[in-house]
Amino acid sequence: MKNFNHNLTGFELEGKHQSVDCKKCHTSGSFTDPLPHYTCASCHKDYHEGQMASILGLSPDCSKCHTPDGFTSSLFAIEDHNKTKFKLEGGHLATPCFACHKQDTNKKWQFRKIGETCADCHKDVHEGFLDKNSTPTRLAYNATSRQTGRKTTSTII
Ligand code: HEC
Ligand code: HEC
Ligand code: HEC
Ligand code: HEC
Ligand code: HEC
Repeated sequence: MKNFNHNLTGFELEGKHQSVDCKKCHTSGSFTDPLPHYTCASCHKDYHEGQMASILGLSPDCSKCHTPDGFTSSLFAIEDHNKTKFKLEGGHLATPCFACHKQDTNKKWQFRKIGETCADCHKDVHEGFLDKNSTPTRLAYNATSRQTGRKTTSTII
């Protein structure tokens, strides 16, 4: 079956599926047994554990955001994000997805309960999210120079 042209079956083997062992999909032992494949979720369990579900409780299929080329990237773009209750604007447009959704690099991606108000994610609303070395603010603050370690008090604009 090595030179078997799978594309003739009506289910093309695309991307990473091309290197998947036949038996990982055809688990029954017989290639002619029917194999449900209407959605990706027919074979893939939901990594997101229902987090992508709408208020009606329905999870969109993986194919809305992923292709067989890999799960480590997604088709979910900024336009899609701006249809959710949390729009990406200003400084957040340049913030990588993982900064909000994978705050702990050892853990899984999280798409719910990650905080929604400024203070949820920015501990000190007045100073916390502004890089003091590059972003002028109206506030006066005490800065410790990175180069010299000397304390300075400066007032910017
Ligand atoms: C990623 C999953 C996947 C892999 C890997 C895969 N298949 Fe399939 N294969 C399917 C699906 C889905 C169908 C369509 C099944 C159906 O219509 O019920 C199918 C159909 C077939 C059929 C036609 C069955 C029929 O009754 O028409 C054959 C034969 C087959 N595969 C052989 C293979 C062989 C040989 C390999 C390894 C070289 C392989 N498949 C690898 C998913 C896979
Ligand atoms: C609404 C969009 C959406 C849907 C639907 C969705 N995902 Fe994801 N998924 C993402 C995003 C965004 C990431 C983060 C990927 C990135 O940008 O690196 C992700 C990450 C993953 C990862 C982790 C990859 C890694 O970095 O280790 C897996 C595995 C995964 N998804 C599987 C699935 C499966 C399986 C389904 C269907 C049951 C699914 N996803 C449905 C958006 C989605
Ligand atoms: C007929 C079953 C079947 C269907 C349908 C199916 N897959 Fe798969 N897929 C598999 C199997 C089995 C593997 C191998 C998993 C493994 O090695 O753990 C796999 C592997 C993958 C991989 C590589 C996994 C990795 O960790 O890199 C990706 C990405 C993937 N599938 C995406 C999809 C997407 C997207 C869809 C829907 C468009 C889909 N699959 C539909 C059975 C299926
Ligand atoms: C500044 C933080 C932030 C950044 C950056 C960010 N997100 Fe989000 N994202 C959120 C918040 C907050 C929510 C809403 C969470 C909730 O509903 O509890 C969300 C929701 C989502 C959802 C769920 C959508 C739904 O159905 O409601 C997906 C998928 C998602 N983001 C993907 C991404 C991707 C992909 C990127 C990078 C292109 C990204 N996010 C960048 C904060 C961020
Ligand atoms: C879900 C978490 C989350 C929420 C909610 C959130 N932010 Fe952010 N924000 C981040 C992350 C992560 C970054 C990028 C890391 C950083 O620069 O501190 C960022 C970056 C920023 C930046 C750019 C900072 C810079 O140095 O360039 C500004 C400005 C900002 N956020 C303001 C806000 C405001 C105002 C709100 C409320 C309307 C808000 N954020 C809500 C997570 C969040």
